[in-house]
Amino acid sequence: MRLILLGLPGAGKGTQAKILATRKGLLHISTGDMFREAAAAGTELGKRAQDYMSKGELVPDEVTIGMLLERIEKPDAQIGLMLDGFPRTIPQAEALDRALAGRGQQIDAVLYIQVPESDLMARLTGRWSCPNCGAIYHNQTKPPKAAGKCDECGAALTQRADDQPATVKTRLDTNRAWTEALADFYRKQGKLHEVDGTGAMEAITDRLVESISRIPGAA
Ligand code: AP5
Repeated sequence: MRLILLGLPGAGKGTQAKILATRKGLLHISTGDMFREAAAAGTELGKRAQDYMSKGELVPDEVTIGMLLERIEKPDAQIGLMLDGFPRTIPQAEALDRALAGRGQQIDAVLYIQVPESDLMARLTGRWSCPNCGAIYHNQTKPPKAAGKCDECGAALTQRADDQPATVKTRLDTNRAWTEALADFYRKQGKLHEVDGTGAMEAITDRLVESISRIPGAA
């Protein structure tokens, strides 16, 4: 199965992708995580991506598409995909469709997590994450058991530089039109599942699992 999680920044893509990928035996690929890892490693790709990410802008397609297509060629990606944060533009979606079609594959469904924009600023500015294992927390809605420490691995939690209010606003402005354009693109393909992303995280997981169960051929 090859799935895409679509949604504005803070909609809960990363939170839900980790849970669903484990439950469904899919490889979770987040292009945001890939860029942050490259930036932390100080690679040329990471330095270039960082310039855009720190401003809340999209990394150019010519960088992003090549990186993602190379990743999904690897053997561990053949078990199935849970894409989080890709595609983010129509050229990215078209490149993904072409690459998969070349191997006789396709995207099975796109799960569009919908959350009112008024909730997203609070979600993002309160987010903390683990730089070691990637676990995601929130100071109000999902605090760690011990302040500042990851429940999973004990590492010190950090805040993302692009979760400052001014950058969050730019991210929302940047992503709004593209997210709707992508929803239309996949709606026309009959693959879009719109999922209410408000309420408890577990309830949202249940809604996503229910949507997945409606995909033709889904186990
Ligand atoms: P990326 O890392 O993909 O960031 P994003 O899309 O902005 O999404 P986020 O990770 O911020 O949010 P999320 O939806 O995963 O929410 P989360 O689960 O963490 O991209 C970062 C940057 O990289 C981009 O700005 C761009 O520059 C670049 N980039 C990446 N991909 C690209 C691409 N394809 N093309 C070009 N550029 C690209 O949840 C958020 C918070 O809410 C957490 O604290 C969580 O605990 C909390 N929360 C989750 N669910 C709930 C709930 N139900 N109730 C209350 N709180 C909740």
